[in-house]
Amino acid sequence: MAKLPGASGISLLGDKSLEFYRDPTTFCARRIEKHGCRIFQARLLNKSTSFVCSVKGMKELLCEKSNVFLKDPTDIMTYTYGDTIVTANGEEASLLRLSLSSLFNGKCLRSCTDYIQSACERNLKSLCESTESQSIYPLFKRLGTELVLGLFLNVKPDETPELFEEITQLSTLHWHGLISAPVNIKMPMWSSGYCTALEAKDKLMKIIKEKLESREEGFVSCLHELPLPDENADSQHLLLFISALIPKALSSLLTSFTLALSGPSKVEVRRRARADPEYFSHVLLEVQRLWPPVIGGRRIASQDSTLGGYHVTKGSAAMYVSYAVHRDPEVFQQPDEFLPERWSGRNAGQENLLCSLGNGPRNCIGAQLNHTFLKIACGYLLQHYDWDLGPETQNLQYKWLPVSRPVIPPMVQFRAVQNQVSSQTDGIPQNDQA
Ligand code: HEM
Repeated sequence: MAKLPGASGISLLGDKSLEFYRDPTTFCARRIEKHGCRIFQARLLNKSTSFVCSVKGMKELLCEKSNVFLKDPTDIMTYTYGDTIVTANGEEASLLRLSLSSLFNGKCLRSCTDYIQSACERNLKSLCESTESQSIYPLFKRLGTELVLGLFLNVKPDETPELFEEITQLSTLHWHGLISAPVNIKMPMWSSGYCTALEAKDKLMKIIKEKLESREEGFVSCLHELPLPDENADSQHLLLFISALIPKALSSLLTSFTLALSGPSKVEVRRRARADPEYFSHVLLEVQRLWPPVIGGRRIASQDSTLGGYHVTKGSAAMYVSYAVHRDPEVFQQPDEFLPERWSGRNAGQENLLCSLGNGPRNCIGAQLNHTFLKIACGYLLQHYDWDLGPETQNLQYKWLPVSRPVIPPMVQFRAVQNQVSSQTDGIPQNDQA
């Protein structure tokens, strides 16, 4: 059987983690070009890793062979958030998904809509009051944080502002521990980032447990009543759901949407997206295709197998790279162009070939919530504003980790849209009020 193109190098010396994490898109582009193939191997996190950059390969990894390529229980996510669904496998994962998914579908999801609308209104209503440009990434991150803490923990900035700020700071400190060295060193007057993160985690867990025991209405009580495998599973998952990564990912998407539709050259795109809900949803798909917030996901081969016809050894890793999968020219013609029309033409009905929220049986359980949020927040921007980059020329070069966004925070100037629609249609493009 054919050997994967590329080399997995020797232990430590051959490791390419630094090169990959510095610039994952160039890392993949160079190797795709060199090997003439969208699946190749290299050493990542000191493990032989297959990099999957094609739509077909991603489907094979995440769908057809999902029982062979498994989550890694030693992943850094376990380290930081404890035992959660993210790194579980087999029956345990299926049962957790069955329980937790009920929180993010149907009735539960519908009950979130009012709160999402009010959070958008609170955060986005005065964008054109000042003539100054706005730094959009932190603005949208704040909106994402309000959404996450309000929906999952019942903590809202207008009701308990101090608690809201405290949790925001703690979850940021906890998150920073993810990317700092896992060395728990504490000395008088000094503590490592990781140690600070562990302290933040303890404080967060205390707040979370109090919330779960308070029997307040909403998500906390639904979660508390779910059949879960052990007594800490509810608090452990709540810690995961209020992770600072989620507001960052939401902000990444809103930032990319705003940039993709900014300026005089996009007047017609904004006008059409306002008037035509189908076109609007194609714009959102195209934003997620070109700028997936998260770089991808990793699996471990539980037995010898194949990917794209190449041999993959038991115990090795496989990583799908969303950015590269979404620009696979075999599926997406003119892959680097922003073309919402493709979703009503050649790629109609193919949104299941995207992997910005994962794919297959282990896709994101927050996918529908994410979709609702995007529709309301981007719809709100469209119905109320027109916008340009301010200043007009800015360096919009993207970085891809921890979430995708321009390296230099982009500045945008908003102005009230002409012929603003009534407040009854707030946040949702016309003709999409059903
Ligand atoms: C823009 C927002 C979001 C993005 C970009 C995102 C992205 C992803 C991706 C790419 C995966 C798959 C990882 C893999 O294949 O290894 C995933 C899984 C997951 N996501 Fe999200 N997510 C978002 C929002 C959320 C929200 C709001 C929640 C819930 C509070 C959530 C909960 C989860 C969980 C629990 C999993 C693991 C599912 C499993 O392993 O079975 N995500 N997400």
